[in-house]
Amino acid sequence: MSLEGVFEPYENKEEKKIFGREKEIKKVEKMLKSKKPIMIIGFRRVGKSTIAYAAARRFAGKRVAHVYCTKNLDLDSFQSTVEKQFRRIIAQESRTSGATFGGSAIVASTSIEKSYTKSREFSVEDYCNDNCVIILDEVHNIGNPNVLKDILKFSRDHLRNARIILTGSSLPYMVDLFKRFKVQKTTVFPFDYGTAIEFMKKGFKENACENCADYDYVYSVIGGAPGHIIDVAEEIIIENKKYLEAVSSVYDEQKEKLLEDINKLFDYEEIAETVKYLLGDSSSSYSPEIVKHLEKLGYTFSDPFVQNVFKEWIQSIERSE
Ligand SMILES: Nc1ncnc2c1ncn2[C@@H]1O[C@H](COP(=O)(O)OP(=O)(O)O)[C@@H](O)[C@H]1O
Ligand SMILES: [Mg+2]
Repeated sequence: MSLEGVFEPYENKEEKKIFGREKEIKKVEKMLKSKKPIMIIGFRRVGKSTIAYAAARRFAGKRVAHVYCTKNLDLDSFQSTVEKQFRRIIAQESRTSGATFGGSAIVASTSIEKSYTKSREFSVEDYCNDNCVIILDEVHNIGNPNVLKDILKFSRDHLRNARIILTGSSLPYMVDLFKRFKVQKTTVFPFDYGTAIEFMKKGFKENACENCADYDYVYSVIGGAPGHIIDVAEEIIIENKKYLEAVSSVYDEQKEKLLEDINKLFDYEEIAETVKYLLGDSSSSYSPEIVKHLEKLGYTFSDPFVQNVFKEWIQSIERSE
C-alpha cells in the first residue's frame, strides 16, 4: 500500500500529483531550451528529482533517461545506462503502437523489442536528435570528480541535442566545472509555511486522514520539504504511528543525513558566526557572502528544519570542543 494523490511517494509522478511547483517546473522547462546543462540544487527530499522529471517530460515527452549517480559511476556505465533506458522506451512505444493491431501485435512487439534491445545500429546520438533529456541524479555521490567532467564533455561533444539535468548538492569542486560547461543553476527551496500547510491539508484529505496531525507542529519540526511531509504521512497512515512519534522519527532520520551533508559542504570555523547570527544571536558577526552561499545551496533559514538542524550542528561542535 502506498499513499495517493499529492502524497504519492514517487519522483516520476504525474503532474496533477505535484503540488505547488509550477514556477519551478516552468523555470527548468525554459532552461531546457538552451543546450547548456542544468543543475538543480537543494537539500534531500526537497523535490529536485520531481521537478527535473516534470520539466523533462514537458520538454521531451517520453524521451527521458534517468541515471542515479553512485560512487562508482563512470563514463562507460553512464553511456550504457542511458542506451539501455532509451532502447527500453522505444520498445515500449512500439508495443503500445502495435497494440492497435490486436492479438498478433503481442508477437510482433516482442520481436521489435528484441531487435531494439540487441541491435547494434542504435545510437543515443541519433535518438536524441529530436529532443531528449538525461537526468543525472544526485551528482554529489560520484566518487571521482573527473567522471562528471568526462560525462559533461562527452554529452557536449557527442550528444549534441540531448539536454542534461544534474541534481544534488553542489560540492566546491563543481564550481570550476560549472563555469567551464556554462551550467545553468537553479535552487529548490522547501515550501514556505502557507504552502506547506496547504500541501498537508490536501494530502491528508486525499488519504482520508483529515485530522491525523497538527499541521503547524509538523511544519515547526520537519519544515517544508515535501519529501519530509510525505515521510511523516506514511508513518502515520501506513505504519499507524502517532503523529508526534512520526514527526520525531522523520526528524531524527533526516537530521542525521543533513548533518552529514553539512559537514561535507561547510567548514565550521568559516560559517559558525554567520549561522549563529541567522539563528537569532545578534551578537555574532555575519558575512553576507556566506548568507548568499547558504541560500544558493538551498539552506534557507526561514525553514524550521534547516534552523533546527543547524542549531544542533553548532551545539554538537561546541560541546565537543
Ligand atoms: N511538489 C511536490 N508535490 C508532491 N509531492 C512532491 C513534490 N515534490 C516532491 N514530492 C515528493 O517528495 C518526495 C521527495 O521528492 P524528490 O523529488 O525525490 O526529492 P529530492 O530529489 O530533492 O531528494 C517524493 O516522494 C516526491 O514524490
Ligand atoms: Mg532526488
